[in-house]
Amino acid sequence: MDIKSIRADFPMLNGVTMQGKPLIYLDNGATTLKPQCVIDKVCEYLTTYSGNAHRGDYDLSHQVDQEFEHAREVVKDFINASTKDEIVWTSGTTDSLNMVAYGYALKHLQADDEILISVAEHASNTLPWFDVANQIGARVKYIPLDEYGCVTMENVEKAMTKNTKIISLALVTNVLGHHIPMKDICAYAHQHGIIVVGDGAQSVPHEVTDVQDLDVDFLAFSGHKMCGPTGIGVLYGKYDLLNKMNPTRLGGGSNTRYNSCGIVSLKKPPYRFESGTPHIEGAVGLGKACEYLQSIGLQEIYDYEQQLRAYAIEKLKTIDQVEIYNETSTGAIAFNIKGVFSQDGASLFNKYGIAVRAGQHCAKILDEYLGVNTTLRVSFYFYNTYEEIDQFIDVCKKGDDFLDAFF
Ligand code: ALA
Repeated sequence: MDIKSIRADFPMLNGVTMQGKPLIYLDNGATTLKPQCVIDKVCEYLTTYSGNAHRGDYDLSHQVDQEFEHAREVVKDFINASTKDEIVWTSGTTDSLNMVAYGYALKHLQADDEILISVAEHASNTLPWFDVANQIGARVKYIPLDEYGCVTMENVEKAMTKNTKIISLALVTNVLGHHIPMKDICAYAHQHGIIVVGDGAQSVPHEVTDVQDLDVDFLAFSGHKMCGPTGIGVLYGKYDLLNKMNPTRLGGGSNTRYNSCGIVSLKKPPYRFESGTPHIEGAVGLGKACEYLQSIGLQEIYDYEQQLRAYAIEKLKTIDQVEIYNETSTGAIAFNIKGVFSQDGASLFNKYGIAVRAGQHCAKILDEYLGVNTTLRVSFYFYNTYEEIDQFIDVCKKGDDFLDAFF
């Protein structure tokens, strides 16, 4: 990978400072920076063809439709869905997972049914299931994490019962960052008639995703975590499952007709789920982001990030006062500086121009497994460098001076 030319693509990496120092952005699990081509694509819509989608019969409107549906096609190819009609635009992963919970599970699950998740899941893959389970008298149960914090196939099999109807897991979680055996989980779950929902927020941006190979039933992910705009995301669903799902909101764009007696005829998926004017600049921006990532290569991105991670782990391990919670995973690095409250730690990194995240990272029952309330988290993307990691490590090494340096 030509890191120099990649970094030249990102305005935020060229001249932006924090605390007077060049920005070192290590919070890519929260959101990612945007390359100029995505910014240009969004601006192009806003400045040259800013009409509505699927509503007009004039040239401008046709151009919007073409660009909007082209982006859907690009996303379809990006995750190897079988048709672009399996790609539903949403506002992000949270919206997508809520749609599955309220549109699919609420319709098809019954009292005493079980939904399996893990304590490492993000709030968006936990709270909708709590609510749906409460509404129908179903139960949310947890697949135990192993000693490394992983969801293993063995533990999935042990947690499943005859009442299990849905398994919903992040392919890579946002704090511990372990890969789960999603393909095996899907194969086993399907033998037992169980639907598998994937939270791809932290996996789709960083690696090759093939929904047909995984055979996952639903997959949720966000544009802003993969160089795209905020406010746009995707729900992938197998077409027959989307057909069995209720829209969670209704309005213009989702129906073919309705009458004064309240008889409503909905459009086919994905349009029945896309009531209201969509986030058009978001969708075209996300399409461009997918093309950009593909031009670099998702396997190349994954390999490079793994090298960065391994480099950071090796260095962190040499620092006595650093405690690492997920040495063996492949995603973000969760750690603490012993004796330092994580948010104080993040403030110190900030002082050196380094953006890291601190706290519970929206995974508020993970502390039941980790045994610590909050952590620091660094999460890399393909534009990060070894030199940035060296500077991050230098701050970690401040040791006993860590707090002194802050106060
Ligand atoms: N879900 C994002 C994170 O993990 C915001 O930081």
